[in-house]
Amino acid sequence: MRLVDTHAHLDEESFDADRPEVLHRASQQGVLAVITLGTLLSTSRRGVELSHRHPELHAAVGVHPNYVTQASDTDWEAIVQLAGDSRVVGIGETGLDLYWKTVPLELQRAWFRRHLELSRDSGKPVCIHCRDAEGPVLEELRTASQRGLLRGVMHSFAGSLETAQECVALGLHVSFSGILTYKKSAALREVARQLPGDRLLVETDAPYLSPQTVRGKRNEPAHVRMTAETLAEVRGLDPEELGELTTANACRLFGLRLS
Ligand code: NI
Repeated sequence: MRLVDTHAHLDEESFDADRPEVLHRASQQGVLAVITLGTLLSTSRRGVELSHRHPELHAAVGVHPNYVTQASDTDWEAIVQLAGDSRVVGIGETGLDLYWKTVPLELQRAWFRRHLELSRDSGKPVCIHCRDAEGPVLEELRTASQRGLLRGVMHSFAGSLETAQECVALGLHVSFSGILTYKKSAALREVARQLPGDRLLVETDAPYLSPQTVRGKRNEPAHVRMTAETLAEVRGLDPEELGELTTANACRLFGLRLS
């Protein structure tokens, strides 16, 4: 089964002791590429460095909505520079988060707009985090789409079918994480069943969101296979076929060339 983990945070400390083994286990499960996302300038830089060291690793750069109070305009200028790096295939992680209620929404919106603009200017797809913020995220996406269809992904999607369909209509892909495998996620599996096949992606969000059978443990890119198997079942596809479909989608969106 060939797979791409389209969203992970491999810069995190919890991988410092065994990152090469983590990537090796992923490749043994058919994971041919992993995209590691930045959350601040520091972690974006680290992701880019790692992607230069590990050929299967690619980077996305940005400031996560929960951390925008820790980032400066100078940091943003550095991220814009980093976005031009040859190993950078996406812009993010960006978006809006109203779950934690620690960062003012207007500030989050301003940073989200910056990322949407950088995505359009750089031609690199935007990776969008949306937690308890579907209304305002859709408002921003509708506004941004007035300049043409968007290119990017709603990461670790856990929202409604209506939201997913509107995102698809605006040009976006929809990515599913380990949340899809949870017992309580029947409604989400129904969303996944109804979306167009050419917009589906899979991811881990490692080290977070471990799939059902490894819940509570550190997540890692090898586990994207469990989410892919659930998605295959939901779509009535053979796991191999689902792997080919989502891998082709990831390669097209992020411009990956796999060996
Ligand atoms: Ni993430």
